[in-house]
Amino acid sequence: MCNTTNIITVDGPSGAGKGTLTQLLAEYFDWNILDSGALYRILGVASQLEGIDLTVDELSNESGEKITLTARSLDVDFKVNQQSKQVEPFLNGENLAKSIRTDDAGQAASKVAAIPAVRDALLARQKDFAIAPGLIADGRDMGTVVFKHAVIKIFLTASAECRAKRRYEQLIKQGVGANMRALLLSIQARDKRDQMRPVAPLVPAADAFIVDSSELNIEQVFEQVLEYIREKAPNFTSK
Ligand code: DC
Repeated sequence: MCNTTNIITVDGPSGAGKGTLTQLLAEYFDWNILDSGALYRILGVASQLEGIDLTVDELSNESGEKITLTARSLDVDFKVNQQSKQVEPFLNGENLAKSIRTDDAGQAASKVAAIPAVRDALLARQKDFAIAPGLIADGRDMGTVVFKHAVIKIFLTASAECRAKRRYEQLIKQGVGANMRALLLSIQARDKRDQMRPVAPLVPAADAFIVDSSELNIEQVFEQVLEYIREKAPNFTSK
């Protein structure tokens, strides 16, 4: 396990740019990455493969128990793709890098993530990512629950409209059809579920540095965050 001072947490709602910021920070410091959202996304996929319907508004207790059992025995692995340098998730040896990135997979993840016993089941697995020389941990509760002793906690946010617009442009660029209003509704529904759940809700840690990226590009976000890190943790040095 790495020193708890060598952890940077990056929390915030979906589509605020956490993944890109995490990648840039990991490259800058040459540290490891925890994409905790991918864990919940994989659990969503695994639960669906077991026949659980995650499109329903309220999950039954029985479904909750089955999902918790699946979370406890999840055969998941993360490997760095040597070409893209991206961390790719595997379930039972199958690469899920693409299939977990859909909006449906995000909604499914948000549903399984609202079950307190599921969060408990995945806690130790997330803590295991804290190995030397350091960790950039991306999620919703990295700074409030999983790594609450981290010295640097970033909370990256942006308006829902802005996040929907970015997602829309990303999908259009990929040649995938997209509907702006549907994307906005989906983002708002996910924000609401992530913020209202009783356990580990999406909130900034009291000691988080909050960055609103609505009017900033990713380079400007990165610069602001680096400036904050240099001031608060001058011992964190680039590779
Ligand atoms: O970061 P993401 O979009 O990949 O996350 C997908 C969902 O997983 C998100 O809507 C809520 C859940 N999640 C969570 O509850 N806690 C985390 N630390 C990370 C993700």
